[in-house]
Amino acid sequence: MTGKIVEIPLLAIRNTVIFPVLAFPINVGREKSLRAVDESMEGDRLMGIVAQTDAKIEDPDTGELHAVGTAVKILKSVKMPGNKLNVIIQGISRIKIMEYVHTEPYLRARVEMLEEQELKGAEVSALLMNLREEAQRIIELSPHIPSEASFLVKSIDNPAILSDIVASNLSVSLEEKQDLLETLDVKERMEKVVALLTKEIQVLELSNKIQTEVKGEMDKAQREYFLREQMKAIQKELGEVDERQEEFEDLKRSVKRAKMPREVEKVALKELRRMSRMSPGAAEYTVSRTYLDWLIELPWQVESDDNLDIKNAEQVLDDDHYGLTKVKKRILEYLAVRKLKKDMKGPILCLVGPPGVGKTSLGKSIARCMDRQFVRMSLGGVRDEAEIRGHRRTYIGSLPGRIIKGLKKAGTNNPVFVLDEIDKLGADYRGDPSSALLEVLDPEQNSTFSDHYLEVDFDLSSVLFVATANQIGPVPGPLRDRMEIIEVPGYTAEEKLRIARRHLIAETLDDHGLTAEHIEITDDAIMTLITSYTREAGVRQLKRELAALCRAVARDIACEEVNGKVKVTGDSIEGIRGPIKFFQEVAERTAYSGVATGLAWTPVGGDILFIEATLMKGSGKMILTGQMGDVMKESAQAGMSYVRTRAKPLGISEDVFENFDIHVHIPAGAIPKDGPSAGVTMITAIVSLLTGRPVNHELAMTGEITLRGHVLPVGGIKEKVLAASRAGIKHVVMPDKCEKDLVEIGDDIDLNLEFTFVSRVEEVLEFALGKDIFDGKERKPQEGMPPRKVSRSRKSASTKKTAKSTKSARASKTSKKKTSKKKPASGGGARAGM
Ligand SMILES: Nc1ncnc2c1ncn2[C@@H]1O[C@H](COP(=O)(O)OP(=O)(O)O)[C@@H](O)[C@H]1O
Ligand SMILES: [Mg+2]
Repeated sequence: MTGKIVEIPLLAIRNTVIFPVLAFPINVGREKSLRAVDESMEGDRLMGIVAQTDAKIEDPDTGELHAVGTAVKILKSVKMPGNKLNVIIQGISRIKIMEYVHTEPYLRARVEMLEEQELKGAEVSALLMNLREEAQRIIELSPHIPSEASFLVKSIDNPAILSDIVASNLSVSLEEKQDLLETLDVKERMEKVVALLTKEIQVLELSNKIQTEVKGEMDKAQREYFLREQMKAIQKELGEVDERQEEFEDLKRSVKRAKMPREVEKVALKELRRMSRMSPGAAEYTVSRTYLDWLIELPWQVESDDNLDIKNAEQVLDDDHYGLTKVKKRILEYLAVRKLKKDMKGPILCLVGPPGVGKTSLGKSIARCMDRQFVRMSLGGVRDEAEIRGHRRTYIGSLPGRIIKGLKKAGTNNPVFVLDEIDKLGADYRGDPSSALLEVLDPEQNSTFSDHYLEVDFDLSSVLFVATANQIGPVPGPLRDRMEIIEVPGYTAEEKLRIARRHLIAETLDDHGLTAEHIEITDDAIMTLITSYTREAGVRQLKRELAALCRAVARDIACEEVNGKVKVTGDSIEGIRGPIKFFQEVAERTAYSGVATGLAWTPVGGDILFIEATLMKGSGKMILTGQMGDVMKESAQAGMSYVRTRAKPLGISEDVFENFDIHVHIPAGAIPKDGPSAGVTMITAIVSLLTGRPVNHELAMTGEITLRGHVLPVGGIKEKVLAASRAGIKHVVMPDKCEKDLVEIGDDIDLNLEFTFVSRVEEVLEFALGKDIFDGKERKPQEGMPPRKVSRSRKSASTKKTAKSTKSARASKTSKKKTSKKKPASGGGARAGM
C-alpha cells in the first residue's frame, strides 16, 4: 500500500483521533495550529492531522507526535471568540509522515497518502456482516446515538470505510483508537473493531439490564446502587477484584455449610440474591444481612449425642442436689423411657414449687447428666406473643423470638430448654404468649415451629423442654395439660442445713476466693442463719446470707485483721450479720389470750399467720380487718355464731355479746387473704379471748368450720405443714380428712411435728385451750396484757430439735428485742389462702 507523497501543513491534536471519511468539527486555539490552518486555507485546503502521544504537552516536539495521522480537507473555518477557530474538516485518507520540513512557525511535513486495499471474499463479507450487526446492536443499546446512524451503517458496504466510521464512534481509549488508525490491514482492523464492539456491547447490555430492573422504583438509594453496579461492570471490565462479590460468595458458602433443610436453603439463597441487588448503604441491606446471618447460625442439624447412662445420671443428680428423692426418681424414669424409645414424644416435665428449692438448677442438672446444652428462658412478665415467636421482619430492628434466640445460643437443636416461671406468663392486647408456647410444647406441632421473623419452620422436636412454676394454678389449662407436674416441696430447717453443708458453703466459698483453710462455719452458725435470718421454703436467701458472711470474712482477711482460720459460730453471727431479722415469733405472739396461730397456703411455700381477737365496749358488733376476702369474713361470722350458741358450756356470759364489740384482725394487713380454712383458728382466737385462756403456743391449726361445729377438709396441706415445721411449731391440728394429704410430703423429710386430726370444733378447742374448756364454769375475758412470762415461753418455742444448739443464744437475744418489727414473710404482695 503505497501512495502519493505530498507536502502539507500539520496540526497536532490532543484528545481525539481523526479517521478518514467523516466530517468532523475541531477547535483550534494554539498559535502553531492556527498558523497551520491559515497556511492550508491559502493553499488547497489540505492539511494533515496527527495525535500527540501525550495530551498534556502544549508544544509537542516531532518525537512526541504519532507517525500515522490523517489527511483532511478543511470544509469550513469559523472565527470564535478569544482568537480561536472552529474548523470543520473532512478526513480523506491515512497519512504516514516521511519527514518534517520545518517545525516553526508551524509544522510542515512530507507525508505519504496511504491508500486502502480493495478487499473481496467470503471471509470479508462475513466480517462485514458481523461488524454491521454489532454496530446495530450498539446503536439500539445506546440512547445517545441517533437512530439515523443505523441507516448509515446499513448503507455502507466498503469494509474500510465502515470500520473507520464505527471506530471513530467507539467509546474506547485514545491509544486504542490510534492503534486502529495505524492498522493498515483492513481485515485486521475489522477484527479489532468487532472485538471492541463486543466488549462495549457487554457493558451496555449489563447497564441496560440493571436500568430496566430498577426503573420501577428508582429512589435515591437505588440510583446510587445503579451507579455502583455500573462501576462494578467497569471494574469487571478492568479485571479488578470485587470485594462485594467475594462477600456474597462467602455468604453462599456459609449457607451451604449451615445444612439447612432444602426449603430453608431456598429461602436463604433467594434472600442472598435479593441482597446482592441492594446498595450496602441502604437500611434494607442490613435487614437482609441480619436475617441471613440468623439463618446461617441456627443449629439446623447440629445435635449433641445423648448420654442416657442412668447410673451416671443418678450420680450427677445426687452430686448437684441434696434430697429431692421423689423428683430425682421421676427424672431418672423419664430418662430411662427415653433410652428405650429413642424418638419419644415425651411429656414435658414441669417442676412446681416455691422459690429457691432448686427447680431451675435441676433443669441444669438434667442437661448435665444427659450431656446436653442448657438454655433458660424466663417467662416472668412476658406479655407479648412476639417475645416468644419474634416480630415480623417488616418492623425495623425486628428479631426472632426467645425460643429461636435460645437455640442459637445453645448451638445445638437438642438442648435442655428450661421455660422458667411459666406461671408468671401474662397476656394483653399484644397477643397471648401462652398460645405460642402451646405450639412450642405440642409434640404434634413443634417439629414445624414457625417464628414470625424467620418465616421458615424450625424443628423443635429434639429439644427437651422443662418448665418450672411456683404454682400450677395460674398456668393456662391447655398448657397444663401438656405437662407432667412434678412437685418440689420446700425444705425443713434440717434439710437446709444439709444442703448448706454439702453444696452452698463450698459454692459460696469458691465464689469469694475462700477455702476451708480460711473459714470454718459451724452447724450452729448455719442454723442461726436459717432460723433467724431467713424465712423461706427454699434456700435462696440462705445462700445470700452465706455470701454476705463470706464477704465479711473475706474483707477481714484482705485487711489482715485476722490471722489464721476464722471460725463462725452461732454466737458470732449477730456480730457479723447485724441484728436478727426474723424471730421465731410464735410463742411471743400467742402469749396473750385472743391470739391463735393459723396456717396459710402461699405461692412461696406456705406460712403461718396469727389471728388476733380483741374486745371493747360497744353494742355486739363484729369488726373484721386485715384484708380479709368475703369467704374469710363469712367464715369469721360463722365462727362467731358457733361461739354464741356454745356460750353457756364455755362459761361465757351473754352480756359480752350485747355490750361489747369484738374485733378480729389478721396482721400483715397489706397482704390480701382469703379462703375458708381459717375457720378453726378464728373460733379458737375468739374463745381464747372470751375465756381469758391463751392458746397452746406450740400449736398451729387449719380447717374449715360449719355452724354445727364440724371441721371440713382444706387444701394446701403440704405447704402448710412445711411452713409450720419451719416456724418451729410442734403440733398441728388439722381436719381428719386431710390425713391422706400428708403422704405428699414423703418419708424422707423430717418434720419434727406431731399431728392431731379432728372432725369437730370441740376437739380443737379442748386441745388448744384445755380439756376443761367446756365445763361450764364462768370465765371472764382477759383484760390487760400478758399472763405468761415471755422468756419462758420463748425457750420452749424455739425449734428445739431442729436447732438444738442455737436455742439459748437466740432466746436471750429475742427477749431483749421484743419491740423489733416482725413481719410475717408471706412474700411481698402474694395472696395468702387460709
Ligand atoms: N436440694 C438442693 N441441693 C443443693 N442445692 C440446692 C438444692 N435446692 C436448691 N439449691 C440451690 O439453691 C439455689 C437456688 O435454686 P434455684 O434453682 O434458683 O431455685 P428455683 O428455680 O426453684 O427458684 C441454687 O444455687 C441451687 O443450686
Ligand atoms: Mg428458678
